[in-house]
Amino acid sequence: LDFFATVAEKSDGASLRGDYADISEDYVVKQNWAAYTAEEHALWRKLYQRQAALLPGRACDEFIVSLNALHATDGIPNLEATSKALFEATGWSIVAVPGLIPELAFFTHLANRRFPITVWLRKPEEFDYIVEPDIFHDYFGHVPLLFNPIFADHIQEYGKGGLKAMQLGGLDQLARLYWYTIEFGLIQSPEGLRVYGAGILSSGGELTYSLEPSSSRHIALDVERCMRTLYKIDSYQETYFVIRDFKQLFEDTAPDFTPMYQRIKQQEPLPANSLLDGEIELLNT
Ligand code: PHE
Ligand code: FE
Repeated sequence: LDFFATVAEKSDGASLRGDYADISEDYVVKQNWAAYTAEEHALWRKLYQRQAALLPGRACDEFIVSLNALHATDGIPNLEATSKALFEATGWSIVAVPGLIPELAFFTHLANRRFPITVWLRKPEEFDYIVEPDIFHDYFGHVPLLFNPIFADHIQEYGKGGLKAMQLGGLDQLARLYWYTIEFGLIQSPEGLRVYGAGILSSGGELTYSLEPSSSRHIALDVERCMRTLYKIDSYQETYFVIRDFKQLFEDTAPDFTPMYQRIKQQEPLPANSLLDGEIELLNT
């Protein structure tokens, strides 16, 4: 885990890091790429190299292939250039934002195939851990899989689902799904479990930890079960949910969540380390 804040935890804009002075109505800013310092580009290279070395055998193939095609090794990438390439591939764009943004703006961007990316980079002393997502997490973790057509479609559906959840009072539940899939999800491959969640992929420690049989629970994703499950914001996850493939993620989240939200709200949420009757741990020591 390399960050813990979400808009839900930090809903009072005042405490957010980042410069919100020049935002447009939808919280978009200019990246101002020329303003990054040589030290920041050097820190990006160090972050990139550490993560890239950990990817083989851990990240899913789709992620590695797309990341390499981005050629983002030399320094903090120019978001406009990436946005162009991404648009040609899957019709998604990237918008620069000052940091965390409110749910309505976030979901609206996703529903319109725009992915918000924070413009600031962490400080050297935050190499291993930052409190809020920075450009390294947002770009390295999230952008590569937006080149995958099914995953790209899924994120758009998630954005639409977020707007709907705001009406239905289902935001807590939907945030758990995001957390355990888009941020901390694992996927099966013929060679074993692989990572597709951005929060793991951009984390030095969790990329290794999350795949160790002895560490935490690994169970097959069940959408409703996942949306009942609390998550840890200040430690590695105690449970990782595993999908078969991106098609499963798309299809299992397609049904109307309205009745699920109602059922879940009538129950106590499950602790992060729960194992229910009949659930099988996919990795065992
Ligand atoms: N199917 C969900 C709903 O009806 C929306 C959604 C789609 C949520 C994809 C997450 C991911 O609310
Ligand atoms: Fe993220």
